[in-house]
Amino acid sequence: MIDARELAVTERVKSIELVIPVVSGKGGVGKSTVAAMLAMALAERRRVGLLDLDFWGASLHTLLGVEISEFPSEDKGIIPIEFHGIKFMSAAFYTRNRPLPIRGSEYTDAFLELMAVTRWDDIDILVIDMPPSLGDPFLNAVKYLPHGKFVVVTTPSKLSINVARNTLLLLKEQGFRIIALVENMVVDPDESEAEKLVSEFEVPYLVKLPYSKELESAIGQVERLKQTKLFEKVKGLAAIF
Ligand SMILES: Nc1ncnc2c1ncn2[C@@H]1O[C@H](COP(=O)(O)OP(=O)(O)OP(=O)(O)O)[C@@H](O)[C@H]1O
Ligand SMILES: [Mg+2]
Repeated sequence: MIDARELAVTERVKSIELVIPVVSGKGGVGKSTVAAMLAMALAERRRVGLLDLDFWGASLHTLLGVEISEFPSEDKGIIPIEFHGIKFMSAAFYTRNRPLPIRGSEYTDAFLELMAVTRWDDIDILVIDMPPSLGDPFLNAVKYLPHGKFVVVTTPSKLSINVARNTLLLLKEQGFRIIALVENMVVDPDESEAEKLVSEFEVPYLVKLPYSKELESAIGQVERLKQTKLFEKVKGLAAIF
């Protein structure tokens, strides 16, 4: 039986020119940081939406300093809030900084609910921050984003590189388009296992982002985030799109 929400999701994202899911099977590698800064950089020249789909640990509102106590307004759907020229929607509006004990199998449901109700009117690009997962819920969810151009994030650590390899393999096997591998928190740019991954999987772009000592103190303040060297480098990633 056809789930009405599936049709609604397709309808909602249909007119968006470019959807960029930021993913990794591994936690803590910088997906949210990259997604937020990428949206900020793209918003300098395009109409951008930013969506936090991490129902287990939404963090974009904390990173950007978005107040989530008030639920976005509704009119034939839920209207993302406008924040520094970005249309912003987050699982955090539902979870309210409380743990949401959903199982993996329920993730797709939550994804469909949120995607089906959110109105992304008048945007060119939607950047999506995904939770750290590569299981069925992840794959079920992203199958509704067939025109997505995926950005995979890793750190230089072997532990992360191994998971990045699995992430790339899985996305390739499932026929998703991978546009860039981001090697985040780079300390020594000359030592890069990520370069091997990029050639192994024929990923069009490798973007190296430095470890940033300034980041922590800028969290919650968009203007300060924009002043970091990290943001300058993320502009290089944005230039790909
Ligand atoms: N380039 C960087 N330099 C320094 N710290 C960074 C950098 N990128 C991210 N961080 C820090 O690393 C931590 C993890 O980053 P972030 O939350 O973006 O990762 P994530 O992959 O989204 O995590 P999760 O899997 O839990 O969603 C945060 O404390 C963040 O501030
Ligand atoms: Mg995250």
